[in-house]
Amino acid sequence: MNIITPTADGSNTLYNETIGEHYHSKHGALQESKHVFIGAGLQFVAAKQAEISILEVGFGTGLNFILTLEYCEDNNIQLNYTSIEAFPLSTGLIEQTGYSAYVPQTIWNSFITNYEAALKSPQSLSALSTLEIPHTTLAAFNTPKRFDIIYYDAFSVQHQPEMWSDEIIAHACSFLKPGGTFVTYAITGKLKRAIKACSFTIEKLPGAPGKREMLRAVKGM
Ligand SMILES: C[S@@+](CC[C@H](N)C(=O)[O-])C[C@H]1O[C@@H](n2cnc3c(N)ncnc32)[C@H](O)[C@@H]1O
Repeated sequence: MNIITPTADGSNTLYNETIGEHYHSKHGALQESKHVFIGAGLQFVAAKQAEISILEVGFGTGLNFILTLEYCEDNNIQLNYTSIEAFPLSTGLIEQTGYSAYVPQTIWNSFITNYEAALKSPQSLSALSTLEIPHTTLAAFNTPKRFDIIYYDAFSVQHQPEMWSDEIIAHACSFLKPGGTFVTYAITGKLKRAIKACSFTIEKLPGAPGKREMLRAVKGM
């Protein structure tokens, strides 16, 4: 059962009773998404290229996706977005998050009307963007595609340790292109060692409000 819960910046998140954790930072769902994934991930890569493919781990409510889509449409960036989700939410619950208020209506409508179809096959949302949400676990996921960015947005190591094992991190990183960027809201010594073992250069960046640090890592060429 997922319960809609307000966070400190006024945006909502979901509390997952089974896992015992929120989908986003309780200090602010919207500001975390903007800081970690849009600011440290998308904008960092968009400074260098005009066509971007993203692999997200954990589609959840789609908050990271709608903010990414808005940024790419505004900046004329071709976006190919693939997001793995083991437990897709219903369209009705996603609509109750109130996230439609954070993007233009055209962006929201193109997301919500294509969401269920994207769980089955890739969908074209505009001349510039595609969305695909493979309904599977990260461990079972495979694709010949390689991506420019990974948004690693799994539940925390305390609540879902299997999503932070060395093996699963290496599996996720195998889908990045050489020079590709991995971003996540978390940073631990174990995660840094796992990423370094995959030939990445690591940066510790200031975290979203309420978190001291976050991780960005760039894969060796
Ligand atoms: C922290 S939430 C992601 C929040 C999401 N990015 C958003 O903007 O709402 C973690 C997500 O990972 C999904 N998940 C849990 N186990 C998974 C697995 N083994 N493989 C892929 N996704 C998983 C959960 O269902 C949940 O949607």
